Amino acid sequence: MDLVEVPVEATFGLRRGVLGWEVPSATRIQGDRAAHLALLHEDAVAAVVSHATWPCPDEPAVPARYFFGMAVDASYQGRGCGRRLLAAVAERARAVGESVMWAEARESAVAFYVACGARATAPYVEDVAGLAVRRVVFTL
Ligand SMILES: CC(C)(COP(=O)(O)OP(=O)(O)OC[C@H]1O[C@@H](n2cnc3c(N)ncnc32)[C@H](O)[C@@H]1OP(=O)(O)O)[C@@H](O)C(=O)NCCC(=O)NCCS
Repeated sequence: MDLVEVPVEATFGLRRGVLGWEVPSATRIQGDRAAHLALLHEDAVAAVVSHATWPCPDEPAVPARYFFGMAVDASYQGRGCGRRLLAAVAERARAVGESVMWAEARESAVAFYVACGARATAPYVEDVAGLAVRRVVFTL
């Protein structure tokens, strides 16, 4: 599978299907301020994530990268796509001197992030879409 940078519009179809997002969707970072990564399989978008520089509330003084909209097509889940996208975001964060990477995760995905090395906070309701989430934080 090829890892490529894509315009935000290329993420919409998968996010609608996998995350149930109306698109464009309300996020902390507007699409044009973020970068968007996709894994392509035979030109089809199999997985996406977006990311941008943004401080983590737990460690506001530390240079950090926020990521959002992680979605893997159901037929590709459990095959390492999510882990690969996390590694790609981490690589980009480290390259610009950031040492924390974080997201607000739905409960069903928290175990995935923990399996990939994150620590997770207690649940809370985020203030953009009013969803119950946990913050997942990676030290890079
Ligand atoms: C959650 C999601 C992003 C994970 O991506 P994925 O490609 O399926 O996960 P990977 O195959 O890369 O898994 C990486 C590791 O996490 C583990 N893992 C994946 N999903 C898991 C889950 N739901 N519970 C526990 N562990 C999980 C895998 O076993 C694997 O561990 P290993 O490498 O030690 O064997 C993907 O399943 C998805 O898009 N789900 C629906 C949308 C969603 O919840 N997005 C996140 C919103 S916050």
